[in-house]
Amino acid sequence: MQSWQKNSWRKFVVKYAPDYPDGHELSAVEKTLGAFPPLVFAGEVRSLKETLANVAEGQGFLLQGGDCAESFSEFDADAIRDTFRVILQMAAILTYGTKLPVIRMGRIAGQFAKPRSQSYEVKHDEKLPSYMGDIINGIEFDSKNRTPDPTRMLKAYSQAASTLNLLRAFADGGYANLKHVHSWNMGFVKSDPQGDRYRHLADQIQENLQFMEAMGIDSSNTPQLRKVDFYTSHEALLLPFEEALTRQDSTSGLTYDTSAHFVWIGDRTRFADSAHVEFCRGIENPIGIKCGPSIDPDELIRLLDILNPDDSAGRITLITRFGYEKIDSILPRLIKRIESEGRTVVWSCDPMHGNTIKSSRGLKTRPFEHVLTEVKHNIRIHHAEGTHAGGIHLEMTGQDVTECTGGIADISDEDLTNRYRTHCDPRLNATQAIELAFLASEELSRSNNGDLW
Ligand code: PEP
Ligand code: CO
Repeated sequence: MQSWQKNSWRKFVVKYAPDYPDGHELSAVEKTLGAFPPLVFAGEVRSLKETLANVAEGQGFLLQGGDCAESFSEFDADAIRDTFRVILQMAAILTYGTKLPVIRMGRIAGQFAKPRSQSYEVKHDEKLPSYMGDIINGIEFDSKNRTPDPTRMLKAYSQAASTLNLLRAFADGGYANLKHVHSWNMGFVKSDPQGDRYRHLADQIQENLQFMEAMGIDSSNTPQLRKVDFYTSHEALLLPFEEALTRQDSTSGLTYDTSAHFVWIGDRTRFADSAHVEFCRGIENPIGIKCGPSIDPDELIRLLDILNPDDSAGRITLITRFGYEKIDSILPRLIKRIESEGRTVVWSCDPMHGNTIKSSRGLKTRPFEHVLTEVKHNIRIHHAEGTHAGGIHLEMTGQDVTECTGGIADISDEDLTNRYRTHCDPRLNATQAIELAFLASEELSRSNNGDLW
């Protein structure tokens, strides 16, 4: 294999790259970014990789969630806090069900770039580049906004840095105290018969905390009860940005992409001579690979040869996203192949991207039922194959949006227009996310206990 450099991706096939009109301006921005401080530290990335290695061995669970696309306009401390809180609540629920440590990871502090199926959008006879995320262009349909602007990378860096700063303060500064985190708003389950099951689980968690406190284990003497590790992640799509934040760690001499702890390769850019694969090959960060219905098992094995030649545990997370109708016919085959090749991976399920449909008014939505069905089938398939359903990858927010239909609040097709705020794909709202965590947790606990369905 050729030697790797942080810019060697430039000789490979770059898909979904914005067409910047001014190359000099782009170079100037890359230079500026290259001199900015790293967003994350190599030591944190190494810890994450170690805990992911445990997940790959069946000793942990990965919860990854956040916006489809973060935006400059919805940058707001309350929204960051609410997403953080919901992820913590979901992690508590999942820890209880799986009896395993749960890695908390946001699609946050850098999830700004989107690959779009159509490069152009036509409206009223005007043809403009598609919106590719706030780090590339603006969502408003006019030529000024839609022209890719490299200076947006500087704004994205600054927003990622402030977001990360707040997340670090929450994670370390007392906000993450399990006692507070646990007081989740159960109001939403009041009137529903399903609610009793949820309340029961919540009460059990509460009782365990009280028991521990009575035994003298509380947040004053047990830091794990008041501090959490929280990791950041995004799709490594915009390679000039990723390259500029790629640095050599002074202690180990190894190369890290310091834009996030974990980055993933999207379903549209995961092919053997892809620039995105080439870039990820040389960085030490744990890498996700999205696997959609078009995945060819032979090609996936080639990608693993490139990205993880030593089969190091924790390096690769396969994020499968087949949709509830296709998972049964694709996932078992893929698991068998990975197992027969003796590869070590974390298996995570993204039940969002294979379940997108159009609402009656033309809005993109995802029925909660379909999301849940994919999650359940994923757990059952791994159980049957003897592998570990090690994670879940969600598009979600802590806000009360109406973007996905269904769930306990029974959001209807007509309700979608009430609070449809996403800049890209529809997200589970806080209630739906918590509900999904409860249901997935029940299913995982059944699977662990060997209960037959
Ligand atoms: C995403 O995670 O937002 C995304 C674009 O996913 P995929 O690459 O799986 O389509
Ligand atoms: Co998405």
